[in-house]
Amino acid sequence: MLSQETIQNIRNKASIVDIISALIPLKLCGENYVAPSPFSVNHEEENAERSLVVSPRKNVYFCFATNHGGDSIRFLMQYGHFSEQEAWIWIANRYGVIIPQEELDSNDATNEVQELYYLHDLAQQFFTTNLNNSEMGRAIGLSYLKEKRKLSDDIIARFGLGYSPDEWTALTDYATREGFSDNALRASSLTIFKDNGKKYDRFKGRITFPIFNTTGRVVAYSCRTLSADKEVAKYMNSENSAIYNKSQTLYGLFQARDAIVAQKKCYLVEGNVDVVSMHMSGVENTVASCGTAFTKEQASLIKQYTDNVAIVYDGDSAGIKATIRATDILLQAGLNIRMVLFPDGEDPDSYAQKYGAEQLRDYLANNEKDFISYRIMILAPNAMKDPIKKSDLIKELVKSLSYVQDRTERDNCVRKCVHFFGVNENTLQLELLNCINNRLKKNFDQTKPTLSSPPSDPFPFPPELPPDFDPDGNLIPPAPVDAPPTSSSKPNWQEYNIFPDEIQERKIISLLINNGNDIISVLMPKEKPTDKDVFEQQYVVSVIVSDIVNDEMQFDNPVYQQIFGLFLHKLEAGGLLDSNELVNHPDEVIRNTSIELMINTYHISERWQNEKHVYVVAPEQRVKEDVEYSLNTLKLKKINHRIDDIDTQLRLASDPETMNQLLFKKMVFIKHQKELCNQLRCVIH
Ligand code: CTP
Ligand code: MN
Repeated sequence: MLSQETIQNIRNKASIVDIISALIPLKLCGENYVAPSPFSVNHEEENAERSLVVSPRKNVYFCFATNHGGDSIRFLMQYGHFSEQEAWIWIANRYGVIIPQEELDSNDATNEVQELYYLHDLAQQFFTTNLNNSEMGRAIGLSYLKEKRKLSDDIIARFGLGYSPDEWTALTDYATREGFSDNALRASSLTIFKDNGKKYDRFKGRITFPIFNTTGRVVAYSCRTLSADKEVAKYMNSENSAIYNKSQTLYGLFQARDAIVAQKKCYLVEGNVDVVSMHMSGVENTVASCGTAFTKEQASLIKQYTDNVAIVYDGDSAGIKATIRATDILLQAGLNIRMVLFPDGEDPDSYAQKYGAEQLRDYLANNEKDFISYRIMILAPNAMKDPIKKSDLIKELVKSLSYVQDRTERDNCVRKCVHFFGVNENTLQLELLNCINNRLKKNFDQTKPTLSSPPSDPFPFPPELPPDFDPDGNLIPPAPVDAPPTSSSKPNWQEYNIFPDEIQERKIISLLINNGNDIISVLMPKEKPTDKDVFEQQYVVSVIVSDIVNDEMQFDNPVYQQIFGLFLHKLEAGGLLDSNELVNHPDEVIRNTSIELMINTYHISERWQNEKHVYVVAPEQRVKEDVEYSLNTLKLKKINHRIDDIDTQLRLASDPETMNQLLFKKMVFIKHQKELCNQLRCVIH
């Protein structure tokens, strides 16, 4: 267990922006940083580019695609699948904080996922030691990599290449001796279990290419045979597991991502050896799909780092087919693509071997084509001989073109087709439009409107006007519950099945979380109206909490009531709530709700100024006005409900005594209601 002192030492140094941007590129946006969600591969939601928001001021992140948030530790646990201890160690190492040995738990393999990571760590150390230190490994594996493939020691180490001994159970036995269970060996697919109970090493006698996830942990292997025998599968790959999904992983991304961001471009090649070879030639922004046909998820993954991809596939027919498939997937993900075609029979690796690194870089730089030119060059010679094939090719090109999101780029490509095929430009544009429309229609049919989730920005602050009374302060009678939705563009909250005073309750909780520890001056109640004004400095949290407790108000939303309770208890105990208690609260709903409110404030206050044309006032003054305004609107809502309740009771009441009591109560509330309306108008205008 880490001591509080160590935790504090690490916390003091850790910056969430620094930590997250070491793993994924962040863009500055206002006072926050944003990125597409690294937790969701579905990047189709609104504002997908900004789903992840990182707040340096609050030291938290929130992901709007998956609705969860936390501090740096939680990010590492969620994103890198670290155990909590590993996350602390990772951060401590980054900032040079030393964790005393006695605070570390030696056996941190707390669950299956952790065991899988540790098993891969063990395998990795086993394979590399074998390659570099065993006689067989050096004679067979290392000599192959260095002499036959011309790889340097540096690059072999950078990619963690290794050698799996040509024995049936070398790794399996070693891992078992080290305490790993059969379950872990099976789940990792490092060991193959036969029906007859026999086990053997999946990768025996092969060069091991570890596959790293984006935090740099080994999660799988792709292993090449040394045999030239065509009957032997060239590669054997790990199967998917709890820590590895091949369709969501790119080989080489961990080593390539800084270069991809710096050069604003990613090369996509076919083979593992091509990735390694490109890196060795200085083209470090290179990745490959992990022995699968290129997927939509892999395209989204690239898009986290750059918008520009150059596809470098072999010129053979399988390569061409794969290129065309990848093109459409990349275009659909909104990426800009270029193609590089190598001379017949060459791939980046063989080209670099033949001509050297510099020539390879020159070739890449000078032989980029747009995808239309590439396809015309490759496919037209054959297709132009046959009118049906020609028209099929044009249709296929138009389909791909319909995915191009940049209009100028699309028009340029259309012109290229017009020029090459000698077809009418209008006809082609029309065909393109049809293609786009058909797809839109198809998408539209698939996405039936649902009411289960609120709109993406459901809580504009502050509400346009305190609900239920008009700008002159006259109360508007509440609409009948089953009235049809009004045609206004404002969301109708009842439709979304949320709590009736959601907006007002949320605002109060937001103030507690974000401004609770601010100090404002409050006018003290007077004994006589003629007394002089006396102001007292108070914490926002005590102003809000005491007001709500005095008026016996309750939050309808149970999560808000719980968060309020945390502030109340802390205040009763004579302290102030530390935001870490919310950020690390064991209840995930409380945690995520709080963090989302922390992240959302900035936009709120900005909008408050822009849309309401409120002039910039001193922050303290604004907080004070915010508190008064928000408390009053909440009270008004609650009083309106109480009056409604009394009306209902009045309708049911029969004896005059009860009716009198109810009427009296109602009068008191109406008086209170009027006062609140007056006060609210003062604040608004
Ligand atoms: N691949 C695979 N299984 C195979 C063959 C290939 O999973 N039986 C995958 C591997 O990820 C490989 C990629 O497809 O890296 C491309 O294949 P290829 O070009 O044949 O492999 P290279 O890595 O380029 O190997 P080499 O240069 O040694 O031929
Ligand atoms: Mn190759």
